[in-house]
Amino acid sequence: MSSKLFSPFTMRSLTLPNRIMVSPMGQSSAVDGCATDWHIMHLGHLAISGAGSVVVEATAVNPNGRNTALDLGLWSDHQAEALDRVLKFCREHSDAKLGLQLWHVGRKGSVLPGWERFRPISIEEGGWEVFGASELPHPQRNQKVTALDDEGIEKTIGDFVSAAKRANQLGLDFLEIHGAHGYLIHNFLSPLTNVRTDKYGGSLENRMRFLLEIYDGVRAIWPDEKPLGVRLSATDWVEGGWSVEDSVATSKELKSRGCDYVTASSGGSVPEQDIEIGPNYQVPFAESIRREAGIPTVAVGLITEFQQAEDILQNEQADIIALARGMIFNPRWPWHAAIEFGEEPAFPVQYERAHPKMRKHDFLKSKREV
Ligand SMILES: Cc1cc2nc3c(=O)[nH]c(=O)nc-3n(C[C@H](O)[C@H](O)[C@H](O)COP(=O)(O)O)c2cc1C
Repeated sequence: MSSKLFSPFTMRSLTLPNRIMVSPMGQSSAVDGCATDWHIMHLGHLAISGAGSVVVEATAVNPNGRNTALDLGLWSDHQAEALDRVLKFCREHSDAKLGLQLWHVGRKGSVLPGWERFRPISIEEGGWEVFGASELPHPQRNQKVTALDDEGIEKTIGDFVSAAKRANQLGLDFLEIHGAHGYLIHNFLSPLTNVRTDKYGGSLENRMRFLLEIYDGVRAIWPDEKPLGVRLSATDWVEGGWSVEDSVATSKELKSRGCDYVTASSGGSVPEQDIEIGPNYQVPFAESIRREAGIPTVAVGLITEFQQAEDILQNEQADIIALARGMIFNPRWPWHAAIEFGEEPAFPVQYERAHPKMRKHDFLKSKREV
């Protein structure tokens, strides 16, 4: 039986050559929101990994939407030009389909990078005003949070739309809206972080309004032939918080609006989260959303083994497998998986002599230059 991991997957007019997706990974390596040489290396080597698709890291739609001052942004033409250089490099050497994740960090913003333990920085130190669904500060950070008012909500939606227009001009194949990990959209979704009393707070219908308005705004300008997905934290892992049932209900709404996939991540909302972590720990969420909302899902989180990934697909728990840390640890994961399943990995010509079949003695004898 041929492997499902290496079978194509079509959404709208886009066919992913296989089901392996490189999960978005923020690098905190941009300058003024512009991609740098680090991104050429990072995305370049992931693009030649043999994965069918690569998602560019969470990219801020406005300056206040950044986590750190080193995050990628897409609110200026200058930033688009810098990213264009990286994307051109990837396309020159790889057929992997390229997506990008659009993002506003919400109340988790204005901090130093992870390797400096996300220490909050004040405006005097070069930080910026932090916005959220409500004024509730992040419990582990002593930062003032301004609740977005109607004007702020409208402007933020407009910023998502403007960034999406730039993403389209850059020729990105697909787009993902980041609605997970306690960032701005998730901040609106979760009853633990949204205590608004207007039409964006209270009932589930009200709390998902912000996400749906962003989705509708982006979908309206994003070409019909290109997929648009959403990443959700399927649960807050807290009693009384955002739940898998809420994620299913939201995914049904997204599906009715034409959403092409939901990535089932989890957590990030509040420190009290009690996560049962282990291999496949988020796969049941991808499975529930897929089955109950009838929408394609991406499974992510501690998927590290070839057969593990294949089984998730064979068991119809998800349609695509996303890997993050595993791809950093072994950027040739898809090559090895392909060899394991008897498939033909996508090798750039410069590297084809590393293919096991090219290492055979006979080959070397016949091809060696004299
Ligand atoms: C360095 C790093 C940066 C990340 N940045 C993002 C990001 O920009 N957007 C996002 O949705 N998730 C981000 N994540 C989460 C991953 O995409 C993924 O969901 C998570 O690491 C679980 O998958 P894994 O077990 O394969 O690493 C990041 C993870 C890592 C390790």
